[in-house]
Amino acid sequence: MDLKKRSLSMQTFFNERVDGYDNAHAGLMESKERITAALPDNTRSVLDLGAGTGLELTALFERFPDARVTAVDISEKMLEQIQTRPFGDRVTCIAGDFFEVPFGEGYDAVISTSALHHFTREDKTVLYAKILASLRPGGLFINSDWVAQTQEEEDERFVELEENPQGRSHIDTPLTIENERIALTDAGFADIEFRENVPESYTLSVARKK
Ligand SMILES: C[S@@+](CC[C@H](N)C(=O)[O-])C[C@H]1O[C@@H](n2cnc3c(N)ncnc32)[C@H](O)[C@@H]1O
Repeated sequence: MDLKKRSLSMQTFFNERVDGYDNAHAGLMESKERITAALPDNTRSVLDLGAGTGLELTALFERFPDARVTAVDISEKMLEQIQTRPFGDRVTCIAGDFFEVPFGEGYDAVISTSALHHFTREDKTVLYAKILASLRPGGLFINSDWVAQTQEEEDERFVELEENPQGRSHIDTPLTIENERIALTDAGFADIEFRENVPESYTLSVARKK
């Protein structure tokens, strides 16, 4: 399935599920909170890719009440929920596709959780280079997301996606940690680390712009 079609299917999927979304993700709150714990004390400006309803932002604004966040998401209905949160006035929302909208620049950190496991390694390299360009020198990209445990698992999911182009609209295709490392390296990131996460099927990747 091509990128554009996939993005549009994600938009429909999440626009239709916004009502039950926070309950569905209640069990994943620790994976979202670990992002905030990994941020340096001097964090002020943050770009959140696939921010959804803003679940990861509660912990972030508790630790960094003066932060300013730019939230990008293709689902305008998910973003509407962010504006209703107590920190809504500190978030600038951009409705659009990661691969199409400008991100801006000079961020202390780019964060993402549960939102980037839908792309090939090649597409991720392009996206990661765009993320790198949006960071200030020394800035961090922190991604808390699902990873495939083996290359076989990664390959099987991409086959499933190709064999069901009109079937299920949402087939997840996480990469292995090894392929995540290659994509981050090829995009130009330094000091790449993969930390333990909860659940175990997730990893917390932390990468720096030199
Ligand atoms: C599972 S939700 C995660 C939301 C939030 N980060 C959290 O952890 O609760 C994934 C989000 O990524 C967004 N998304 C998926 N593909 C996207 C794309 N190509 N461009 C922008 N947003 C996208 C979806 O609309 C959705 O809101």
